[in-house]
Amino acid sequence: MALYSEKVMDHFRNPRNVGVIENADGVGEVGNAKCGDIMKMYLKIDGGVITDVKFETFGCASAVASSSMATELIKGQPVEEAMRLTNKAVAEALDGLPDYKMHCSVLAEEAIKNALDDYYAKHPELKKE
Ligand code: FES
Repeated sequence: MALYSEKVMDHFRNPRNVGVIENADGVGEVGNAKCGDIMKMYLKIDGGVITDVKFETFGCASAVASSSMATELIKGQPVEEAMRLTNKAVAEALDGLPDYKMHCSVLAEEAIKNALDDYYAKHPELKKE
């Protein structure tokens, strides 16, 4: 079996939503101390819906593919849905990641959560418990 699924290779070679959003409503940045990889997510949020999302990832192929897939999964979704996105869901959408690469998908989940935390920090009135 190939190490990486077709989907991982596709999102690595042709990542969706790469870039920066100026004046983003939420920005999240996370890193993994062990491998040194860094991921940054930018969210544009309008009426509680994620209308645009972009990312910059300085990391391995799985981290790039995970961030690309994660942005596709949350684009157009309500913020509450995006908050529930798990790294497992990202890995499943990529048709799986090797076990020792699962931590790369964790970066994507954390980067999105950080960006949403940033958004809620700016708009505490919107936070639903
Ligand atoms: Fe660190 Fe993939 S090896 S994020």
